Amino acid sequence: MNLVVVSNRVARIKPNEPMTGGLAAALLPVVEKSGAIWVGSSGRVRDGAQKEPFPRIEALGNGALAMVDLPADCYGGYYEGFANSALWPALHSRPDLIRVAAEDYSSYRSVNAFMARALLRFRKPDSAFWIQDYHFLALGAELRELGVREPIGFFLHTPWPERGVVLGVPNHRDLIGAMLAYDLIGFQTEEDCDNFIAYLETEMRLPVQNGVVVSRYGASRLAVFPIGIDVEGFTQHAARAAAHPDVTRLRQSLHGAKLAIGVDRIDYSKGLVNRIDAFDHLFTRRPELKRCISLLQIATPSRGTIEAYGRLQNQLARMVTDVNGRHGEVDWTPIRYLSKGFSQTMLAGFYRVAQVGVVTPLHDGMNLVAKEYVAAQNPSDPGVLVLSKFAGAANELDAALLVNPHDIDAVARAIATAVAMPLPERSLRWNAMMKKLRGGTIQKWSTDFVAALEEAHSARNQRVDYHIPAVRPLYSMGAGRMP
Ligand code: F6P
Repeated sequence: MNLVVVSNRVARIKPNEPMTGGLAAALLPVVEKSGAIWVGSSGRVRDGAQKEPFPRIEALGNGALAMVDLPADCYGGYYEGFANSALWPALHSRPDLIRVAAEDYSSYRSVNAFMARALLRFRKPDSAFWIQDYHFLALGAELRELGVREPIGFFLHTPWPERGVVLGVPNHRDLIGAMLAYDLIGFQTEEDCDNFIAYLETEMRLPVQNGVVVSRYGASRLAVFPIGIDVEGFTQHAARAAAHPDVTRLRQSLHGAKLAIGVDRIDYSKGLVNRIDAFDHLFTRRPELKRCISLLQIATPSRGTIEAYGRLQNQLARMVTDVNGRHGEVDWTPIRYLSKGFSQTMLAGFYRVAQVGVVTPLHDGMNLVAKEYVAAQNPSDPGVLVLSKFAGAANELDAALLVNPHDIDAVARAIATAVAMPLPERSLRWNAMMKKLRGGTIQKWSTDFVAALEEAHSARNQRVDYHIPAVRPLYSMGAGRMP
């Protein structure tokens, strides 16, 4: 099989360049080992009429990476607009933050259609397409429209919210109808899958039986595939990185105090405001813990042109200054706040130095930082993970200290518990979590998904002939204008 993996963001392939986003880091070993071709955005835009859409195709282990310049005229409406100001807030159950311009959906569909045309270059008789994430919900429908009959699967890295929240997304019926062109739709958790099924059954009156829904496209299978990490690779990374000069400097700078670490994109779904409040609360209620622990918060700026993100960046900077000003000492800083990205290798080393990993999103599809923190620990002296109940990872990592991130006092208490936890309990919890990680690696995730895709595709062919809708889906072509 010739696997074509598609995502908006792709890995940075220079070894020490920061890699933003769990998805990009997670897919890298899959592509390197499977020999797949990975197609995504180059991060640059150009005139949509451009004849040669791929300025760069590079080798990536056994596979290849193809980066496409997306069309300039609809990029803003696609990325900042529909994907990140309508879908992202809705998918993270923040309908209050939905902001859309009239033409955003049209731009989103145009970029999906553009990518579909670009993918034809990689189509072979035995191709299978694996589309990733909320940027390309309608890409399968566009490929079908171009006559692609091969297996097309989709995996959603974010949560899928309750039906009522989805209703806040403009054009939700058209969009979710288009998703049914996929043979297989994968979710991170049962809850996400159930929410999607509830939407189909209630809103579209489509019954779902044994995880299969039949639409005008034929049968689509809905299933859960919790994403994992490259456990052995990351463990080795962390052990090697422990000797890196920057990691040594971090360790020495603590002067025997403990370190908690948080690593997040600056995003309202990550619970960063609550986390800083929790540390403020901890140092206020338990002043004896001052100097015993500080937080290293790595907060990578993201989507800064969107108002909600710009506001959050400013708010966080103010909060950190305030907490450090009130609790800090001339030779101790409560929160070390670094607003930039680091390579996976450096992060692995930092995780290993930290006795506490703080992963407290308000809502998260999986959160691979939680898994990476666990995998990076020194087996003879592992740290403790404080994990939000509302991260998909909490389903597997139930040996972490699970917290409600809205309960500031409970988060502060969990951090204090983590700081004081004796080695036998830390080891017990860590071993239980490592067992889960080893049972659900990224390699298994991709093998399971691809096997299920082949199965769903052949089941679909046996059941119903492809039935491409007679009417062309709205907004599927064109340069960003409503038809
Ligand atoms: O699933 C969420 C995701 O696609 C992750 O890969 C990553 O955390 C983030 O979104 C990337 O967002 P952006 O490409 O906008 O920085």
